[in-house]
Amino acid sequence: MWGDLKRVAEEGRERSILGLFETDADRAEAFSVTALDMLFDYSKTQIDAATRDVLLDLARGADVEARREAMFSGAAINETEGRAVLHTALRNLDGGPVEVDGRDVMPGVLDTLARMEALAEEVRGSDVTDVVNIGIGGSDLGPAMAYLALSPYRDGPRCHFVSNVDAADIADTLRGCDPKKTLFIVASKTFTTIETMTNARTARAWLSDQGVSADGRFIALSSNQEEAAEWGIPPKRVLGFADWVGGRYSVWGPIGLSLMIAIGPQAFRAFLRGGQAMDRHFRAADLADNMPVMLALVGIWHNQGLGHATRAVLPYENRLARLPAYLQQLEMESNGKSVAMDGSNLPVESGPVVWGEPGTNGQHAFYQLIHQGTRVIPCEFMVAAEGHEPELRHHHELLIANCLAQSEALMRGRSLEEARRLMAEKGLSGKELERQARHRVFPGNRPSTTLMLPKLTPETLGQIIALYEHRVFVEGVILGINSFDQWGVELGKELATSLGPVVSGERPADGKDASTRALVEYVKRYS
Ligand code: F6P
Repeated sequence: MWGDLKRVAEEGRERSILGLFETDADRAEAFSVTALDMLFDYSKTQIDAATRDVLLDLARGADVEARREAMFSGAAINETEGRAVLHTALRNLDGGPVEVDGRDVMPGVLDTLARMEALAEEVRGSDVTDVVNIGIGGSDLGPAMAYLALSPYRDGPRCHFVSNVDAADIADTLRGCDPKKTLFIVASKTFTTIETMTNARTARAWLSDQGVSADGRFIALSSNQEEAAEWGIPPKRVLGFADWVGGRYSVWGPIGLSLMIAIGPQAFRAFLRGGQAMDRHFRAADLADNMPVMLALVGIWHNQGLGHATRAVLPYENRLARLPAYLQQLEMESNGKSVAMDGSNLPVESGPVVWGEPGTNGQHAFYQLIHQGTRVIPCEFMVAAEGHEPELRHHHELLIANCLAQSEALMRGRSLEEARRLMAEKGLSGKELERQARHRVFPGNRPSTTLMLPKLTPETLGQIIALYEHRVFVEGVILGINSFDQWGVELGKELATSLGPVVSGERPADGKDASTRALVEYVKRYS
């Protein structure tokens, strides 16, 4: 199946995107997908009708539709861990039963949601001014990203997100908090993650140093209820979730508690409804009209087809500043694998490097390379028609204009002829004109996609997150990998555990390589 992709990739590599628009007046509509008021435009890519057919065949050949049903219906598709994958159940507010091993999980999901709401209301109604979520990876990035994204909807206490084991993170956060008015949420699916447990202990010590009892000041969010109890957090302040919710997919459940405290249960339900609406679209729409599927196929085209190793996520929405980091975990922890589910090596590249920053800031930093560097970087733009500051509408218009300008510039480029004309208009001539003109050439014909949304609200944020989750799923199915495990993070964790006593001087660095020994020596000399 990859042979056909390689063939159309070779044919399409140099295809003129502008040429595609010239020969097809309907291209903008024909190469875009509309769903739930969002518009995903992939017309500014080299994908033509024949390429799209090959991509859709790739999806059909990989049984995307059957795998999708298997996921939604609770089959153990996370094969290396023997688990179902049911983050979709967390937003299945009124969608009927979902069974795992013959048991409906929905009563438990709805009961936990009700408990979250009661706890959130209790905190919102108390004198707590600051909530500190202590977690890392999926237990941090989701709520931290969404808290910033939805700041116009915040009417509850301030939230802070401490993740790094670097003491700077917790020290800087606690400096601004009143111990008598601060609540800690220890968010950890496993409740064993070294960074989180170290920060949680430091938070407890901070309270005690300030003469404040830890009673009632901690909430735990975890699948490991025993460890949480062991840590001294009473059961009524522990919100559990099942092992079929992966860490990077967990913002929809208890891990989203800080967000719920900030924006209130009603707005949090709107966030869930957005995710659920995208689930329904993903499950029902034909592949060619299916937004997550087409987003995935564009990704496969650029990465496995054309060999572009990275993709930039460029939200023109300042409040989505943490979205690229969130998507890095979602995409790279899910699809950064080189062994297929059947144990064979992947015959193509694994998932791409994902990176990005909000526009317009990135324009004044790294866009130079995107426009004139030697590598092609497919760009994924994102912008809302409306902002949250109607009184400053002119800002928003400029923001949109910049977003649209970038995709147009990437596609059009600027020829040497145009550059020469520009230099002549500036009064240059002869050798100097020639020299300057060359630096002002833009190769153009660089692909990008644009996701348009009406406005960034709890509901549309839910749609966007679910859209990307399903994109990752479809790409993973086509690659034949398990997108839901993360064995690649284990080795580093094990070595860090063994290096801890070496760094603190309790154990010698014997057995370590010469480089590691020298680095430890340096630390000892300067600490
Ligand atoms: O190390 C990776 C990882 O396991 C992520 O998958 C997860 O989101 C993160 O660590 C945090 O894990 P936990 O929620 O169990 O503390």
